[in-house]
Amino acid sequence: MNKKYAIIGGGGHARSITSLFEKTNNIIGFFDDNKKKIVQNISNLGTITGINKSHLIELGITDLIIAFGENSLRRLMFHKLIKLSNFSPLIHPKSILSKNAIIKDGSVIFAGSVVNPFAIINENCIINTSVIVEHNVVVGSHTNISPAAVILGNTEIGENCFIGANATIRENIQIGDNSIIGMGAVVTKNIPNNCLVMGNPAKIIKNINPNYVVFR
Ligand SMILES: CC(C)(COP(=O)(O)OP(=O)(O)OC[C@H]1O[C@@H](n2cnc3c(N)ncnc32)[C@H](O)[C@@H]1OP(=O)(O)O)[C@@H](O)C(=O)NCCC(=O)NCCS
Repeated sequence: MNKKYAIIGGGGHARSITSLFEKTNNIIGFFDDNKKKIVQNISNLGTITGINKSHLIELGITDLIIAFGENSLRRLMFHKLIKLSNFSPLIHPKSILSKNAIIKDGSVIFAGSVVNPFAIINENCIINTSVIVEHNVVVGSHTNISPAAVILGNTEIGENCFIGANATIRENIQIGDNSIIGMGAVVTKNIPNNCLVMGNPAKIIKNINPNYVVFR
């Protein structure tokens, strides 16, 4: 059966996600609780709170994809909606994935990204434009990796992390759950859970809670 997607959320990240449908056109529309939201060229299908299984079937939607850049909201929506729909991974045709890489449900791989052999991208992650994920890297569920970040071989990134644009993570590094790596950081040492990290070489600036807001 051909997959037909709907996007959850009608903000800036939803607009980025529409770029993944430019060739396939297998998108039905988007849901957002704010009825005034507009995502260019795609239909507003109603509120997220109003979604139920029969409504999705009626609209011909087979899969949902969550378009919230903020991890806490993306994670909440994934847990709420996984009971109602499939969440097949969404892969831009201009990304390069090794046949030995694993991309799990709900994750999105944007244009120009490379995911090398034996890398594992767990559920509901964002691998944004032109990210390099090297061999044997493991990315935890709900983690968001921003444009042009480079994750070198054997590194493990925890769940619910945020990696800023153009950050570089050295090989064999472990980054704990809920940690945030600032844009441009160069991470050369292991990072524990719940840390905000910035700079070159990267330093821990402070401890944070798992719902730290990145986009202000
Ligand atoms: C790390 C980050 C989350 C911190 O955000 P924040 O908590 O709001 O911090 P602020 O912007 O208030 O900055 C606090 C201080 O850190 C500095 N700073 C912020 N980000 C920095 C970074 N990445 N590297 C070095 N210094 C940084 C600021 O200049 C400021 O310095 P000051 O106190 O001397 O004025 C944010 O700066 C960041 O890197 N966001 C990622 C952006 C991104 O990659 N977006 C991708 C969109 S697709």
